[in-house]
Order: sequence, then structure tokens, then C-alpha cells
Amino acid sequence: MSAEPIEDIWVYERVPGDPWWRDAVVYQVYLRSFADGNGDGIGDFAGLRARLPYLAELGVDAVWVTPHYVSGGADGGYDVVDFTAVDPSYGTVEDVRLLVEDAHALGLRILLDIVPNHTSDQHAWFRKALEDPDSPEAGFYHFLPASSSPPNNWQSMFGGSAWSRTPDGRWYLHLFTPQQPDLNWDNPAVADAFDDVLRFWFDLGVDGFRVDVAYGLFKDPAYRDNPGTYSPTLFGHGPEQAMTTNQPRVHQIWRRWRAICDSYAGDRMLVGEVSLADLDEVGLYARPDELHHAFQFRLLKSDWDAGAFAFADTIDEALTAFEAVGAPAPWVLGNHDKARQVTRYGSEARARAAALLMLALPGSAYLYAGEELGLPEASVPDEARRDPIFFRSSGKRLGRDGCRIPMPWTASAPSTGFSGSLAAEPWLPIPAEWPDYAVDRQVADPGSTLSLYQQAIMLRALHPALGSGHAAVTQDGDVIRVDLVARHGDATPVTCWINMGEAPVVIPAERLLLSSSPETDAPNGGVLKLTPDTTVWITS
Ligand code: NOJ
Ligand code: CA
Repeated sequence: MSAEPIEDIWVYERVPGDPWWRDAVVYQVYLRSFADGNGDGIGDFAGLRARLPYLAELGVDAVWVTPHYVSGGADGGYDVVDFTAVDPSYGTVEDVRLLVEDAHALGLRILLDIVPNHTSDQHAWFRKALEDPDSPEAGFYHFLPASSSPPNNWQSMFGGSAWSRTPDGRWYLHLFTPQQPDLNWDNPAVADAFDDVLRFWFDLGVDGFRVDVAYGLFKDPAYRDNPGTYSPTLFGHGPEQAMTTNQPRVHQIWRRWRAICDSYAGDRMLVGEVSLADLDEVGLYARPDELHHAFQFRLLKSDWDAGAFAFADTIDEALTAFEAVGAPAPWVLGNHDKARQVTRYGSEARARAAALLMLALPGSAYLYAGEELGLPEASVPDEARRDPIFFRSSGKRLGRDGCRIPMPWTASAPSTGFSGSLAAEPWLPIPAEWPDYAVDRQVADPGSTLSLYQQAIMLRALHPALGSGHAAVTQDGDVIRVDLVARHGDATPVTCWINMGEAPVVIPAERLLLSSSPETDAPNGGVLKLTPDTTVWITS
């Protein structure tokens, strides 16, 4: 594991003038599944506040909390009924203020999730729009006159047509479930309303927002057919969504939101979900006057493969795309929409290796709650499933419940400590093997996945070549080598190697900083044996 003491490694000085978010490690909390403070089986703000010391100890810089608003419950909180109210299951607005206060006292920042592409069908705007087709609120959405078939071929990302009928026969647009009508951003009143939402939470002290569907918002004003129907593409959306995503007008909104951020003290930030296949297009969302981070999901969607269209290519292309706009690359391997890494890659060893690779790369790194415990994708009985993807595809797509299971905190407690010591029925069933992954089992074990993440995040914070330097990627068969140098000062370079193949390889190595595998031997005679499914950080 950590082969040598780290006292003589550089203590990290950020590049003068660098804002905190440039190379931040951000931890995504799925609020409903993180920690239940009041024993009703649903995660909440009280639970999260009580677990903040765990996150500080892990070493992350910021916490992104998935939607906490009053919601219609059709899509895990992404169908918002009121953008300035907290779902009573999670707490109150005062709880958010207290969360920010506690987090700041521990040196952590808080990002909320904002959902500007659509509202819930229960939102007061949509209800008014249904009631009165001539109301100003009707202009907030995309309504088209009654006709026998849907106005065009646009498909919902969750399956079926993207158009549903109102009781009086009109069509309305929803790129997700019918309970999530899309807002019409060509109406300036929509942008004004969201300015107020941002200010409401910024005034409360939050440090920023993750922006849902940031590549969406605007649609083709003539509602022309998409050139192809939606299919879940490998790396994100492209021309098949030409009329429904990535309309150039969206960039004006990100400039407007950036200006709002900049009007507040304290480096507030925005990270957008930009699920586009073309990384150069993603990079444009992170131009200096737009979003601070633009998620690219190619790494998240790459199979366990060093070769073409997988890890090495992706890293190289993402670095180039973000360098072109002077923005840090955000990296992500897992989130609440994707099966867990351990299951996708085929083993915990591989998930650990991928994490160590990601944490070495320059830019920001996003972790999804539970990946630091090596959680696998859980199998969920059909009758317990909640995700609309499962229902809208008639069970053909399993959906995302398996990565949204409550966190295991205490092996011996009821519900593995999700509700503290209280015996509550968790909102999704907890698998029988969850105690094996519990935080209390891993925290004192230096070989655990939790300890690996903690050591990696600490080293990354200390060594200026890790997580913030310049990277050069080379690939040789199943092995990827990333050469990392600091952006300032004369810290020793670090080389990160990952072996994605089946045979061990011998690599040059003087000093081992960290390995993802407990089996790695210290370097001997200037070389080290890199076993399969392993990442190492090497320095001199
Ligand atoms: C992306 C979110 O990550 C996902 O969970 C949600 O279903 C869609 N946007 C719709 O809001
Ligand atoms: Ca609760």
C-alpha cells in the first residue's frame, strides 16, 4: 500500500490565484440514501449533517447534494414542485442553512442540484398552464395544438414519445417522464425566475450548484424532427438529438448564471451535466465566462479497456478539449445514473485501480457516495423498484435503483446503520451482504477501499503533481502511463501506471507512493512488477 512515509513530499501550495474548485474532489450525496436522521427510512439533512465529519475525514473539498426540493416523486427528486422549498422528508430551509454552516466549519463546501430543464407537473406554473391556456404560465412550457398524432418524432430519454396530451387535448413536451414538462427557455420570464432561485440559495450561503441537463433547456423553435430517434448512445448525445439538445442559445444562460455567481463573495461555482458525445462541444460549456465545470461522461461510459475509445483515448481527448478553453477537466467514474464501478468493471480491484487513476489526473474529481466503500450494484426485486426508467421501458431497462441503495455505516446495526440505531424500513431494500462494506468495518483497516480513497485524496492534496499538474498520456497495449508534472514549483514528477490487462508487466520505478493493490511489492533495482487490475503512483 503506501510504501513510504510521506513527510518529505511537498506540501501542496495551490498555484497563486487558483480558486478552490479548480482541482477539487467533490463527493456526491444521494440525499435519500445517505443517512437517515429521524428513523423514517429516508435519508435527510439531519442525517447528512451528522455524517459531515466522515466526509471531512475522507478529505473531500465539497459535497454535492442531489435534489432536496418539494417534488412530485416521479424521478428521484428531479421533478421539482417548488424550487425554493425543501421536501419535508428531508428537512427545512433552515436545515440547509445549518448544513452549510456545519460544512463550512469543517472546511467543506456545499453544492445543491438545480433542475432548470423541466418542472414537476405538480408545479404551480404547470397547474396554472393546464387550467388556463392563455395564462402567462402556459408560455413557460411547450404546448402545441391538439392533433391526432404527436407533433414530431422527439423521444423521451426514458422511453416513449416526448409528447403527452393535456386533458383538453393539447400536446406538451417532456424529454423525461410525462410528470416532467420541459420549460420553454425562449420565454425570458423563465430565465428571470431561475435568477431568483439561484439567489435564494446563494443568499443562504451555498457554494454552488450542479446543473441538471445543462446541455438541454432550449429546443428547436420550429419543432423539427430529430434526424434519428433517441437511443442510449455509448458516450453521450450527438446528432440524433440535434433538435432537443445543445442549442447554441443555451450558452447565454450559462454566462448569465456565471455573472450571478461572480456577484457573490467566496468563489461560488457551477458544474453542468453535459452529456454530449463530442468532447470539444462539452468543453465550450466550460469557457471562462460560462460553467466552472462541465461534466464529460466518456470515462464514466468507458468499458474496462485501455484501448481505442476507452480509457487512454478518453483521458487524452478530454484533457485536450478542456485545455483548449483553459478549464480544468472534471472526472467522474460513477453517479446516481450509472451502475456501480465494481459491477461494471467486474471486480473491486478494478474499481480501486480506476479510482487511483482518476484521482491522479489534473482537474476536479467527482466521487459518488459509496464508491469509496467498494459497493457493488445491488440487485433490487422488481416489486421494490422505484425508477421510472424501469416502468417506462416495461422492465426492459432495469433503471438506476441498484446504485441508489442506502449507505452501510455500521455492520451490526439495523439497516446497517442507515437510520442510526433505529430499526426503520429503508426506502429501498438493503442487500444481505451490505454489512461487509460498512464504514465501521473499513475505517480501521488500512487495506480497505475506504482507506485507499482516504490516502489517495490526502496525497493528492499534498503533492502538486497530483490532481493539478500537466498530464501526458501514453498507451502500450493494456497498460496506460500518465506522466504528471506540477504547474509551478519544482516538485518531483509523478507517474501513474494502470495495468488493464491479464499479465503482469515490469515498469521502471524508484519509489512507490501508492498502489491500488495490497499485493504490490516495493520497487527493486529500479523496477516494479505491476500486476493486472492495478494502478500505482510512482515518483523518484
Ligand atoms: C439527469 C439526472 O442525473 C437524472 O437522474 C435525471 O433523471 C435526469 N437528469 C432528468 O432530470
Ligand atoms: Ca429521515
